Amino acid sequence: MDTIILNASELKNIKLCADVLKSGGLVAFPTETVYGLGANALDEIAVSRIFTTKGRQEDNPLIVHVASIDEVGSLVDSTPEVFLTLAKAFWPGALTLVMKKSKIIPDNVTAGLNTIAVRMPKHPAALALIRAFGFPVAAPSANPSGKPSPTKAIHVFNDINGKIPYILDGGDCEVGVESTVLDISGNTPRILRPGGVTYNEIKSVLRDMEVEIASSSMKITSETHETCIINKSNGTESPKSPGMKYRHYAPKAPITAVIGSPDKTAKHISDQINNSGGKDNRTAALMFDEYALSHPNVITFGKSDEYASQAARLFDALREFDNMDITSIYAQVPQEEDLGSTIANRIIKAAGGNLVILKM
Ligand code: TXA
Ligand code: MG
Repeated sequence: MDTIILNASELKNIKLCADVLKSGGLVAFPTETVYGLGANALDEIAVSRIFTTKGRQEDNPLIVHVASIDEVGSLVDSTPEVFLTLAKAFWPGALTLVMKKSKIIPDNVTAGLNTIAVRMPKHPAALALIRAFGFPVAAPSANPSGKPSPTKAIHVFNDINGKIPYILDGGDCEVGVESTVLDISGNTPRILRPGGVTYNEIKSVLRDMEVEIASSSMKITSETHETCIINKSNGTESPKSPGMKYRHYAPKAPITAVIGSPDKTAKHISDQINNSGGKDNRTAALMFDEYALSHPNVITFGKSDEYASQAARLFDALREFDNMDITSIYAQVPQEEDLGSTIANRIIKAAGGNLVILKM
């Protein structure tokens, strides 16, 4: 049976999907970040279907989606002081907050952790679905584990057609990268995964408060590293956000993330493509618009300093490589500032540790 794509702006379709959630089933729905694969967050069996449908590791917890700040009270043990400040500043939006969980949350939602990740998405269809359903919705990104997150309904269809009854189509995701995961369960807020809300935005709201960045989300830049080639870093650290340890966002062909100034990374990639046989070669590249080589294997993803456009385009661009007859991909990594840090994080993850770092 084929999965049916439904127009998310029709109320009857929202109701149809809410009924699926009520009966313990799964539906895919749009958020402003990426498409989610939702289930009733309070139903352990429904939640277990998310893990089998995605092929997701059971030690990787899910984000629970709510439609108002008030709904958070019953999901958490207590709300830390900074919760209201952050929720009022960034919700609805691309910030997920990790807090101590309450007893009503099934263990598989949090992968056995004593904390729960909660977010209020901004997309009107996501809010309408949660409200029509009446309960919180657990939802990871709607891709099979390891693939780029879906930013269009057709991405979800191509990935999991036949496994769920409906996909709510709410158009292209505006942000295009996942939410920022911020742990506020301890004394110092800590970014576990960079995302749509930036470090500077969080800092500007928390003012004098320190904000930590977990080591798995730290910068790898040409300022912090010498010129070098790293093949598959052996990653000895243990990331606090369990999802950050897996190879992720990856097209089929291996990617090499090329880090440095746009001029240098463009030159490096151009050498790779030209050295591997001109127009007939099977080397591909992901490049900034103004640096792009005119070559059939080159895909562009926005201007070098336009991070919001790069974010909106990144996962669709990575998916395009799967339709090409190629054996390797080189990607220009944006500067690690503002939303550029999130995009760099995703490309470096997609590269699974294959990096070329070019000193400034
Ligand atoms: O934008 C988003 O966040 C999208 C949309 C659908 O909301 N969702 C999403 O979910 O990206 P997912 O499952 O692909 O990523 C959730 C991330 C993972 O890295 C997971 O390990 C982390 O959040 N996470 C969830 N609960 C956590 C917890 N209690 N403690 C630490 N990390 C947690
Ligand atoms: Mg995901």
